[in-house]
Amino acid sequence: MRETIAQLKERFEQALVAAFGEALAGTDPMLVSASNPKFGDYQSNVAMALAKRLGEAPRAIAEAIVQKLDVTDLCEPLTIAGGGFINLTLKTSYLKTQIKAMQSDARLGVASASEPQRVIVDYPSPNIAKEMHVGHLRPSFIGDAISRILEFLGHEVLRLSHIGDWGTPFGMLIAYVQEAYPEALKSSQGLDLGDLATFYRAAKQRFDADESFQEAARLSVVKLQAGDEETSRAWKLVCDLSNRTNRKIFDLMGLSPFIQERGESFYNPLLAGVIAELDRLGLLVEDDGAKCVFLEGFTNKEGKPLPLIVQKSGGGYNYATTDLAAIRYRVGVDQAQRIIYPVGMEQTNHFAQIFQVGRRAGWITDDVEFFYAPLGSILGEDGKKLKSRSGEAVRLVDLLDEAITRARTDLKTRLQEESREETEEFIENVAKVVGISAIKYADLSQNRTSNYVFNYDKMLALQGNTAPYMLYAYVRVQGISRKGGIDFEKLGADAPIVLQEETELTLAKHLLQFDEVLSSVEADLLPSRLCEYLFELSKKFNQFYDRCPVLQAEEPSRTSRLILSDLTARTIKLGLSLLGIPVLERM
Ligand code: ARG
Repeated sequence: MRETIAQLKERFEQALVAAFGEALAGTDPMLVSASNPKFGDYQSNVAMALAKRLGEAPRAIAEAIVQKLDVTDLCEPLTIAGGGFINLTLKTSYLKTQIKAMQSDARLGVASASEPQRVIVDYPSPNIAKEMHVGHLRPSFIGDAISRILEFLGHEVLRLSHIGDWGTPFGMLIAYVQEAYPEALKSSQGLDLGDLATFYRAAKQRFDADESFQEAARLSVVKLQAGDEETSRAWKLVCDLSNRTNRKIFDLMGLSPFIQERGESFYNPLLAGVIAELDRLGLLVEDDGAKCVFLEGFTNKEGKPLPLIVQKSGGGYNYATTDLAAIRYRVGVDQAQRIIYPVGMEQTNHFAQIFQVGRRAGWITDDVEFFYAPLGSILGEDGKKLKSRSGEAVRLVDLLDEAITRARTDLKTRLQEESREETEEFIENVAKVVGISAIKYADLSQNRTSNYVFNYDKMLALQGNTAPYMLYAYVRVQGISRKGGIDFEKLGADAPIVLQEETELTLAKHLLQFDEVLSSVEADLLPSRLCEYLFELSKKFNQFYDRCPVLQAEEPSRTSRLILSDLTARTIKLGLSLLGIPVLERM
């Protein structure tokens, strides 16, 4: 199946050339879904956009395009509205064929990329000398959704967690391993450091209480950087413990198991080469003992260009140096064509700066796309960044556990009200899926660049654009097949589709936009568009189900409506799975 909008675009491009000559080849026909169904299904504003260039009235341009536009197989006769909007309404016969094609396609009509790319998604990238906190929620969920969507669209996706596994914060932890487990470091055997949180707390207590321990911590960093064997072993133990603990959180969050840790330490051996290359290219300037690249377009208060420090005066490297090495490696060795960084908005300058240096060094060329996807913050009810009661960033596990607990309580209340008996296993599973999905969906349904207020009641509500609402929508549609004893999979492959009622038509049209929505998510990396689409879909389904009897209808409407119901359920299921949300058959 080909996207309707892509087909229409192609026809428009041909018509533009036919009407105005080769000069207009490749002109964007500015085709969008109609803002109001009154105007049809799609609308093009290109006539207005061309008026100045062609020196003609928009209306006359629109007429000339329509004259040459051959879409009789797809659309009803075209109309021109107002100053020159071209309105297109899809033909019912076309919709029917498309619905049939969708019915028999496991991908629901979504084509696989004709030019698959190798894509790197840099997530969730926590700093592992600390526990994961609320700040890692968005990169995790958004990175995961983007990866799933691009993979489904046929791209090869590498999920690389650029963990902060190097530098000063490790000094304290290493010193603590050395003090508390001296014997273990003599051998290369594994060691159980116990629970991560307890371990961190104990190390911090020692650090705060004792000055000589602080000195030991500082020395550990120096030794680690010098490659000392015992120190490296202690460092490795801490990394393993953190990664193991974080993996459990990833599992709980339902993140893809294919995330690879490729942390800052991985790039250590490559950093000297980065500096040497910048030097060779003449980009390096020594400033106050530090090596820097002076940035274009970034100035200080006096209007002087700002330096990006890539090697400190003591010889040490920093976050920027490592990221430059990563840029070089991702292009040169991984041969990625698109590299996506879903990272908090605070790092906007950092990414603009390293991308600039990467481009000036020739590592970033026009053949690769580096995409920084800035993320807004999660706020508390007070409108400030979400904090725990003690004023620290909220631990991620606590946030997730709380949602599960609340979902369990809600479920138990409901079971009691309905006098329903369910097994413990059922309750646990539903509580976990609903709790985690609620947080995840609440996050994904926001535009990723906006801040939002974290509110359990809202995200767990059965009404509104929430995970529980979407999960219910799926259960409800599935209920139709249960009630009628219908096997959706066996619905006649050659049964005709009937689109007579307004709500049937509206639902069918919306179903057919699934592929277009995924394309737009691919272009802008906004998973919220998919959430919006799914929410709209379940609303349109409800309107259809209100108006049109399904099981009680006469044939051929009955089978046709069952097919529309099945397609709705399958679209919700696939759509949610691309957001990392599993459906429940009962809840
Ligand atoms: N570890 C960093 C942080 O927690 C995020 C890393 C993002 N990725 C990158 N390549 N810089 O702030």
